[in-house]
Amino acid sequence: MKHLLKKTGRLLFAVFVAAALCGCGRYFDMEGTPGNQRADTLTVPANEDLIVVGVSQMGSESVWRTAHTNSIQTTFTRDKGYFLIFNNARQKQENQIKAVRSFISQQVDYIILSPITEDGWDTVLQEAKDAGIPVILTDRRVNVCDSSLYTTWVGSNFLEEGKKAGVWLEEYLQEIGQEQKPVNLVVLRGTEGSTSMMGRTAGFEYITRHHENWCILESVNAEYTTAKGREEMKKLLQKYNDINVVVAQNDDMAFGALEAIYDAGKTVGENGDMLVLSFDGTRDALKMVQSGAISVDVECNPDQGPYLSMIINKLENDAAVQRAYYVPEQVFTTENVGDFIEERNY
Ligand code: AHR
Repeated sequence: MKHLLKKTGRLLFAVFVAAALCGCGRYFDMEGTPGNQRADTLTVPANEDLIVVGVSQMGSESVWRTAHTNSIQTTFTRDKGYFLIFNNARQKQENQIKAVRSFISQQVDYIILSPITEDGWDTVLQEAKDAGIPVILTDRRVNVCDSSLYTTWVGSNFLEEGKKAGVWLEEYLQEIGQEQKPVNLVVLRGTEGSTSMMGRTAGFEYITRHHENWCILESVNAEYTTAKGREEMKKLLQKYNDINVVVAQNDDMAFGALEAIYDAGKTVGENGDMLVLSFDGTRDALKMVQSGAISVDVECNPDQGPYLSMIINKLENDAAVQRAYYVPEQVFTTENVGDFIEERNY
């Protein structure tokens, strides 16, 4: 097994760390990451044949993100043959870079990176490559000059997600016979520079371009959070009194937007002042689709842990891996949502 080759190196590293700590305890921790699993090579027993995986998660900004983390943490467990070193970067790319460097110095077998934005990864990924550690991306992608700096990627087709939301609106307006009327939209965008924000924006705008009567009044950054969604929606409502459609690029922002809409005395849904379109498909949002508060929710599937494990398994056995793995996703509307709410665990 490939990871066995690294074991000796890790043991030497552990001895070095133990000497450095000289009696301060068995553990050393990753800087500024209280609450995370300890970055502790000393707890990998020499007689246990575990694959060591360092995971850099970008943060915990949304319900979706918590589900994504949960999928990873429940996949990479000791009883499944893994030793997981998990780091939450709290929305800062510099923390992610630090975590990756720490994984390299600990000689982990694999690095899993869920990058907050696409740019700025060339140097640290080159360091991982030089150290011979495969990097697997999850959720978002990186924009690097040399594509061999990462092995593969698992995630969603964000461009398609954006198009699905646009197509739903197109078909809905046709259905109610309002396809020729002016449609005024506002967009609450996710994190600037992130793959999901860029893909959803491009996909939705692609459909928008086919409709001269659709007008995007404004598209604003609401950072994928409920608080920002509320704040930005409040400002938009003060500025425009003719909004027909709100496109929130995730459920958390949709929740915040709905609060602002209700506070402003406006209504949503089929017979309301405006329609709310959202992405992710979390349980609470699906309930809102059922009640009609959210008109459509385009799924973004966070259950990526099993794919990541399947990839590592292939790499361990020298089997070929694809350059990209897309997770399956669907669209939730009032018509089908009832079949999915109960089974939703996030
Ligand atoms: O990149 C995926 C997006 O990131 C999800 O839609 C969002 O909820 C999360 O924070």
